[in-house]
Amino acid sequence: MTGSRLLGSGSALPSRVVTNAELAAQIDTSDEWIVERTGIRQRYIAGDGETTASLAIAAARAALDDAGLAASDIDLIVLATATPDNTFPATATKVQHALGCNGCIAFDVAAVCSGFLYALTTADSLLKTGMGTRALVIGAETFSRILDWEDRTTCVLFGDGAGAVILEAPSQDGAAGADLPGVLASRLHADGANHDLLYVDGGPSTTQTVGHLRMKGREVFRHAVVNLANVLNEVIEDAGISADDIDWIVPHQANARILDATAKKLGIAPEKVVVTVDQHANTSAASVPLAYDVARRDGRIKAGDLVMFEAMGGGFTWGASLVRI
Ligand code: UT7
Repeated sequence: MTGSRLLGSGSALPSRVVTNAELAAQIDTSDEWIVERTGIRQRYIAGDGETTASLAIAAARAALDDAGLAASDIDLIVLATATPDNTFPATATKVQHALGCNGCIAFDVAAVCSGFLYALTTADSLLKTGMGTRALVIGAETFSRILDWEDRTTCVLFGDGAGAVILEAPSQDGAAGADLPGVLASRLHADGANHDLLYVDGGPSTTQTVGHLRMKGREVFRHAVVNLANVLNEVIEDAGISADDIDWIVPHQANARILDATAKKLGIAPEKVVVTVDQHANTSAASVPLAYDVARRDGRIKAGDLVMFEAMGGGFTWGASLVRI
């Protein structure tokens, strides 16, 4: 059975841009180091009044507009975040209330940078089982609020933002095939053995604090390239396509060198990789839907294209989804 269809997308960024030069004026780093090692040139940082929920609400409204739908058309909201407004309730319920679709299913998913892949796959699965007709799938983060701004090895890498897509349940006529629009195949993985390579050193049940992000970047990098290449090959095989059939890869935007290395391993031309890490830095769960929205709105991704989403993050968690637009 072909999976749910992507109907529209939207995104939102905080108003304040912070360049590498601004960071270099505050900590021991340089524009040259950041660009050469990561490809990042700037990031957006949330200001007063801007939160994960406010960014998510703006992205959700843009996605509804794009799809020509009203909030009352939504049966399910799945929001991926590692930086919720509150420990509970779920940020998804704040979004729901702001949109005015109270009563539908709404919950958060915690899979850090892979959160959007987990949210998309969960929503697709629920729609396939008849739990609703349309889902709002959101990735939204304010990682600036969990960074240690004195740790140059992490604080230069992340930014804030949100992206959203609308999914519609597949038609029940049994039609299937790689040419039909919809989610064609998805794979998710996790390996808790690597918890300490990328984590936050606080939490309600341990320190009663929010904590700060800690990362052993070089080791995460090594795992990312291997895990992403493996999961991409699994999804390609599940869908019965070849890597050449893929029109666009929309990857998690952690590091331009990871994007290059992953595309190279699969033999996919770098021109087919959507890159926004230079503008947004790493926005964790928001990065994939943000990049997708940018490439759709600038006309690169069109109806009928075969698009691969992929991400890897803390946990470790990783996954990929192949979607015919
Ligand atoms: O989103 C979840 C997934 N996350 C990722 O995928 C991140 C994966 N990792 C990476 O992207 C890269 O490993 C980093 C960008 C984090 C680091 O790049 P690297 O090439 O692996 O650098 P490194 O950690 O090996 O550090 C090289 C040098 C070190 O100095 P020494 O020990 O060689 O003297 C660091 O102290 O660069 C130094 N360094 C910096 N220098 C200037 C680290 N951070 C900075 C900085 N500015 N901001």
